[in-house]
Amino acid sequence: MSDNEIRIGVFICHCGTNIGGVLDISSLTDYAKTLPNVVYAADNLYTCSEGGLNEIRENIKEHNLNRVIVASCSPRTHEPLFRATCQEAGLNPYLFEMVNIRDQDSWVHMKEPEKGTEKAKDLIRMGVYKAALLEPLEKMQVGVTPSALVIGGGISGMNAALNLANQNFEVNLIEKDSELGGLIKYLNKVFPTNEDASNLLEIRNLVESHKKINVYKSAILEKIEGYVGNYKVNIRQNNNIIEFDAGVIIVATGAIPLSPDGYYDYNGKNIISQLELEELLKENKVNAKNVVMIQCVGCRNEERKYCSNICCMTALKNGMLIKEQNPDAHINIIFRDIQTQGVTYEEYYRKAREMGILFIKYLPEKPPIIKKDHIEVYNEYMNQIIGLPYDLIVLSMPLIANEDSEQLAKMLKVPLEENKFFLEAHVKLRPVEFATDGVFLCGSAHWPADISESISQSNAAASRATTIISKDILVTEGVISKVDPALCIGCNRCAEVCNYGAIGVKYEEGLMVSEVNPLLCKGCGDCAAECPAEAITISHFGRIQIEPMITEAAKIEVSDGHPRIVAFLCNWCSYAGADLAGVSRYQYPPNIRTIRVMCSGGIPKSFIYQAFLNSADGVFIGGCHLGDCHYIAGNQDTLRRTNEIEKTLGSLGINPERFLRKWISASEGKLFAQTITDFTEKLKELGPIKNDYKKKEVVITK
Ligand code: FES
Repeated sequence: MSDNEIRIGVFICHCGTNIGGVLDISSLTDYAKTLPNVVYAADNLYTCSEGGLNEIRENIKEHNLNRVIVASCSPRTHEPLFRATCQEAGLNPYLFEMVNIRDQDSWVHMKEPEKGTEKAKDLIRMGVYKAALLEPLEKMQVGVTPSALVIGGGISGMNAALNLANQNFEVNLIEKDSELGGLIKYLNKVFPTNEDASNLLEIRNLVESHKKINVYKSAILEKIEGYVGNYKVNIRQNNNIIEFDAGVIIVATGAIPLSPDGYYDYNGKNIISQLELEELLKENKVNAKNVVMIQCVGCRNEERKYCSNICCMTALKNGMLIKEQNPDAHINIIFRDIQTQGVTYEEYYRKAREMGILFIKYLPEKPPIIKKDHIEVYNEYMNQIIGLPYDLIVLSMPLIANEDSEQLAKMLKVPLEENKFFLEAHVKLRPVEFATDGVFLCGSAHWPADISESISQSNAAASRATTIISKDILVTEGVISKVDPALCIGCNRCAEVCNYGAIGVKYEEGLMVSEVNPLLCKGCGDCAAECPAEAITISHFGRIQIEPMITEAAKIEVSDGHPRIVAFLCNWCSYAGADLAGVSRYQYPPNIRTIRVMCSGGIPKSFIYQAFLNSADGVFIGGCHLGDCHYIAGNQDTLRRTNEIEKTLGSLGINPERFLRKWISASEGKLFAQTITDFTEKLKELGPIKNDYKKKEVVITK
């Protein structure tokens, strides 16, 4: 065997009667033997059984196989097992390819076994062409610095630091203020327990005296380099630069209250903010008899659309405290909507009402008007303006993002949302993590959070951080992007679409060439699809492997008017949806040839054009629903690219209706089957693609 000789072994599974009861396995095996580079083909009753796996191991050795294909069930369930089997026999596990002839063939074409068998031949042939071009891939290993950098010394930062330090990890906590404590320093009591805020500040002593925590006050982050497990941090404290290493970073920079200046005649005397009221209550200096609080000042408007989350509870707390100090005081809270989520906070609200605090709803388009000695507020239920006397007006101001959050976000390469709060990787699945591995967030840096939320988020962030710094080594993904420096034009479009900060142009030593950080790359392929110079390749699912599959996919024999459909499905949603159609036995026409990609964002436009050029009558792209992409927002790029394609198909002489993009989740098997059925009908109406070309003279260059 020469070094370059490709020797493919194909193992075809009966899966009992699941595949063997529908498809003609012996004709598939005979067919596989005729395909280029295939030196061995056999069928097994259950390829995933110990006997089947042994056959793979033995035949790799006996026939010097350097590529293995198993045609059976879904790679989503069995690929790791077969890859491990190849590895046990001394073959690089990435030289394995799986062909799905059960979930996406025998189970969904049960009533058309001949056509199902023809489809299986095409799928096996596509797999063989891909396998010949697979490359061995290696996973990299890097050591981990078992320490953390916590940015921000408020309640979230202190609690996260303490949590990690108590697990014996070294923590460097930096705080730009001269004191730890954040906003709690200015509070009187905390809801819903009405406990003294100063009690919570006792955590400062625990933090400052902990032998595993280095506290840097009046310190700012100067520079940060590196990646998950291995950050090099420079901070500036009193004009000294201090350097240390960290394995993870927790962002706990908190938020600041919006200044009341310029709102409702604020004067800092008898028209004050809730924060100023806290100070007065602390010193027992509230003498007012008629207190009016105005909620939602400076937020839930055009400039700041959001609800600040904590203001209603703060107003209830301070109203009750005034009542406790002076039961004769009249407290009116003018509100838009009272936000008291959960039983505990709802009880708190009930208690405030029982104490005699009055609540008056106002409309945003008719805000209260402050007169010399009373406030006028329009009440829509009574359809009249109510006058409320006041000695003291308290404005509930929202928390806003720290002004330095943009700078920090740039330094850490993490995103902010529209109000400049830090944006988590996924609201439900990764609420205290950034998409960039190794960087976490908690507390009001993320969104206005009360103290109990801040504490639970900081414990969650510390716990997620522990999953990294408790390891000795980190292992990279095998499937990642690679840049060919000879082709890179330094446009940096790859960095613009990468959601993980894993790729970007390095402007060093006069070179402007993009570079991939293998530790951060997740292998979605979005950068490769975006690269205008085709300088980036995603291993295993790159142009080199997929283009021959497209050519083979478009060679479907169409005997009875079924159109040829080439489909690209993202691994995590639409491919899983197609598998579910199989598990549920939803039947659909057998004229679709599917190509699995990791993310729909990894499909370059050229794949779609190529499929049409190769005479596909229709091209289908299936991806996760917007907001659900496994790679955060790869499908947003799919949307942009496919919108562009829809516009250009017409000018190429191809009816745009031949292209379909649909978001189909892993639970939408029925939708997948229905979509393919409907698309097939539509393509039948349009007829073969050559009809389109007849209508228009076109010259297509690649
Ligand atoms: Fe499904 Fe990105 S993973 S579209």
